Amino acid sequence: MSNTQMAWWETAVIYQIYPRSYQDSNNDGIGDLPGITSRLDYIAKLGVDAIWISPFFKSPQKDFGYDVSDYRDIHHEYGSLDDFDELLSKAHDLNLKVMIDIVPAHCSDQHAWFVESRQSRDNPKADWFHWVDPQPDGTPPNNWLSFFGGPAWTWEPQRQQYYLHNFLSCQPNLNHANPAVQDAYKDVARFWFDRGVDGFRLDAVHTINADSEPYKNNQPNPDFEPGPYPQQQQPFFRQLHDSAQLNQPPIQIFSESFRSVADEYGDRYLMGELHGDDPIAASQTFTAPGRLHATYNFNLLRWEGLTVEEIKEAIGKAVSAFNGTGRLSFAFSNHDVPRSVSRQMSALGLGTDKQDALQLLLLKLETCLIGSTCIYQGEELALEDVKDIPVQLMQDPWGIEFAPVFPGRDTCRTPMVWRGDASNGGFSKANSTWLPIDQRHLQRAALDEAERPTSVYNEFADFLSWRKQQPAMMQANTMSELSGDDQVIVFDRISDQQTLRCTFDFNSLTATFEEL
Ligand code: GLC
Ligand code: CA
Repeated sequence: MSNTQMAWWETAVIYQIYPRSYQDSNNDGIGDLPGITSRLDYIAKLGVDAIWISPFFKSPQKDFGYDVSDYRDIHHEYGSLDDFDELLSKAHDLNLKVMIDIVPAHCSDQHAWFVESRQSRDNPKADWFHWVDPQPDGTPPNNWLSFFGGPAWTWEPQRQQYYLHNFLSCQPNLNHANPAVQDAYKDVARFWFDRGVDGFRLDAVHTINADSEPYKNNQPNPDFEPGPYPQQQQPFFRQLHDSAQLNQPPIQIFSESFRSVADEYGDRYLMGELHGDDPIAASQTFTAPGRLHATYNFNLLRWEGLTVEEIKEAIGKAVSAFNGTGRLSFAFSNHDVPRSVSRQMSALGLGTDKQDALQLLLLKLETCLIGSTCIYQGEELALEDVKDIPVQLMQDPWGIEFAPVFPGRDTCRTPMVWRGDASNGGFSKANSTWLPIDQRHLQRAALDEAERPTSVYNEFADFLSWRKQQPAMMQANTMSELSGDDQVIVFDRISDQQTLRCTFDFNSLTATFEEL
C-alpha cells in the first residue's frame, strides 16, 4: 500500500484514564476532572498522543459512570463543565487529543428519558426503550441473559411490560431504531464536538439494540466450555448472540448517523468497543465506509493472560483482517480486566523480578502493531493487579454479584499513586479512598518513577519518541506475517521508506529493531 498522510488516530498511542482513580483534587477520596488536569504534564511527557477518559457524565454511579443520567452534564463528584473545558484546553496546549467515553447502548434508569418512558405506554418517550409484553405464562419474551447475570429483562409495573437491559437492570437499552433517539444522540455528539473533543470511545456498541423485533431466542453455544474463571462460566456465554441479541444489522443506523456528525467537524475519531461471537467480522461491518473509524480489539485482553504463541495468534488474526489500515486499536489492559503485567506474569510463569522488563516489552509490542494502541493508566508504571480487596470493600457491581468466587473489576481500578511517601500515595488527602490503595504500588509511584531515569515510564517515553521517528511505524499501517519460535515474536513494519524488523524476545524480555 502506498503511503499517504495518515490521520492522527491511525497511529495514535492513547492513554486511558479512569477518572475516579486518577487524582483527587478536593480530598473526598474520589478522583475528579481538576485532578486529571493537574496530571496532564505527566501524561504528555510520556509522549502519548491522546487521552481517553472513561465516563464522567452525570450518573448514579451504579456501574461507575457507564450508567449515564445526563449525557450533557458532569457528575458532581467529578467537577463541572468548566472543569472539563479547562482540562480540554490544557490537554490541547500540551498537544494531547482528548477522547471521551460515550455509552450509546443504554442509559441510567434515572435518565429523564427512561423516567418518562417507563410511566405509560403512550407518553412521548414511550418508544425510546425496548418494551415488550410478557408471554402468556408471564415470563419474559425470550431467553436473553444479562452480561452481569440474570435475565436481560426486568418487569415494569407501570406499563405491565418488560424492558431490555444487556447489563444491570438500572441500565435500560435505548431503542436506536427510533429516529427521535438517533436525533437525541446526534445532539449529544454535537454538544461535545462543539466543546472541542477530538473523538469518542463508544461503549459496547455490539449491545446497541435497534429494532430487534421479534426478539428471537439466542441459540445455545455448542462450543461453550466453562473455563477456569467465574466470569467465563456465566450462563451468558452458553449462548450465541450474533443472530439475535447482539451485533444486529440495524445497529449500523447508529454508526452511520453518529459518523455523519463526526464528519461535520473534520479530523475527529470514533472508536467502538465491540464484542460478539465473531468480533472480527463485526469489526469489519462496523468500520465499513461511512461508519466508525475503528474498533477496539479484545484479542490481547484475555483474563487469564496469553502464552507467547497465543499472543502471536491473537495479533495475527486481527492483522490479517485489517492490515494496511488503522481501523483497529490494540490493548493489553483496561478498566475491565486484571492488569496486564500480572496477567502476563502468571501466564508466562515469570516472577516479580521480571515485572518491569515484561511490562516494558508488552508496551513496546503493542505500540509497534498497526493501528492505534490504548494503554491503561498505571501500565507505564508496571502496576500490579490488586487481587485481595476484601469483599466488604468491593465496589464493582459485577464483582459483588458473583462474590466471593469472582473478584470483579476493582482489581485494576484502585487509585493511582503519585508519591511513595505521601499519604494515600498522593492520590488524596482524605482519610479513606473509594477503593483501597495497594501498598505495593507505593514503590512504583508515578512522579517518583518519572524522576528515575531507568524506570519503565522513562524507558517507554524514550521508546515512544524513537517510534515517532520511524517511517515504517508512522507512514503506513502495514506489517508482515508474524514468525519466531515459541518464545519470540518477529514481524516487519513496512513503509515505502523503511522496513523495520521488530523482534520481541520473551526469554530475554527484550525488544530489538533492525532496519532491513
Ligand atoms: C463496557 C465497559 C464496562 C461497562 C459496560 C456496560 O464493557 O467497558 O466497564 O460496565 O460496557 O456499560
Ligand atoms: Ca475528588
